[in-house]
Amino acid sequence: MKTGGNTLLITGGGSGIGRELAREFHALGNTVIVAGRTASSLEETIDGREGMFARTLDVQDAADITRFATALIEDFPSLNVLFNNAGMMAKEDWLADPVDLSVAENTMATNVLGPMRLTAALLPHLRAQPVARLVNVTSGLAFVPLAHTPAYSASKAAIHAWTQSLRYQLQDTNVEVIELAPPGVRTALTPGQSTRTSYMPLEDFIAETMESFRIEDTPDEVVVQRAKMLRAAEANGQHAEVFQMLNDNYEG
Ligand SMILES: NC(=O)c1ccc[n+]([C@@H]2O[C@H](COP(=O)([O-])OP(=O)(O)OC[C@H]3O[C@@H](n4cnc5c(N)ncnc54)[C@H](OP(=O)(O)O)[C@@H]3O)[C@@H](O)[C@H]2O)c1
Repeated sequence: MKTGGNTLLITGGGSGIGRELAREFHALGNTVIVAGRTASSLEETIDGREGMFARTLDVQDAADITRFATALIEDFPSLNVLFNNAGMMAKEDWLADPVDLSVAENTMATNVLGPMRLTAALLPHLRAQPVARLVNVTSGLAFVPLAHTPAYSASKAAIHAWTQSLRYQLQDTNVEVIELAPPGVRTALTPGQSTRTSYMPLEDFIAETMESFRIEDTPDEVVVQRAKMLRAAEANGQHAEVFQMLNDNYEG
């Protein structure tokens, strides 16, 4: 797929990974629409750049996704790339009595149903384009779960499995399906994370990730060096060891 001249939608483009990817793709000569719940953050991402657009969207809300997708296709008929990047991560205590399910329910609605509903709403349009791409942002935690955030890890494992399945179903179509699985990156995803020195600096993560997206033949899975230990743990016979280390050393 060409690296410029596309029209991309990046959900969660008002901060962190989504914001920086949006700016990088715009700099490569693509039209970029960023979406999220907070209009002011989206406007900050755009910061007056021509060819960048902001649209509010709550991916937890099925009706809002329908409204958003209809208007988006009308406003941007050349839309051919969808980045399902919006996401949330929070700790859960399964020793509480009663167990509070609100985090798990919100996480599943945002991280799993959100991408599924948005993809369903936009896929017929993507399929009608000459070339199209679907990028789902998962996590290294899809492969080795962080026990402190059970629903989050489960949500990313679900999107990994869903992405593999979509890639198979869409193999003979114009839609290329890519998974982006980041390691711990310094963003505001969870409290204290943006300054956690054991996590990868955002600019380094974006630079390494864009090496894969700057080539026409982007791999099916974009996994930076730092995330490879988690991605390969099972295959390398090190899952139990890596799981223990990850969870015993968690600083959140
Ligand atoms: N940073 C990491 O260590 C890391 C590691 C692995 C994977 N990831 C994944 O990378 C993606 C981006 O995360 P990030 O690290 O860049 O964190 P972030 O800065 O918190 O970005 C998350 C974005 O998602 C948006 N969002 C959350 N709930 C939403 C909703 N209901 N509807 C629409 N937008 C919503 C947020 O905007 P609003 O709140 O304004 O809506 C925000 O812009 C996420 O999928 C995350 O799981 C991050």
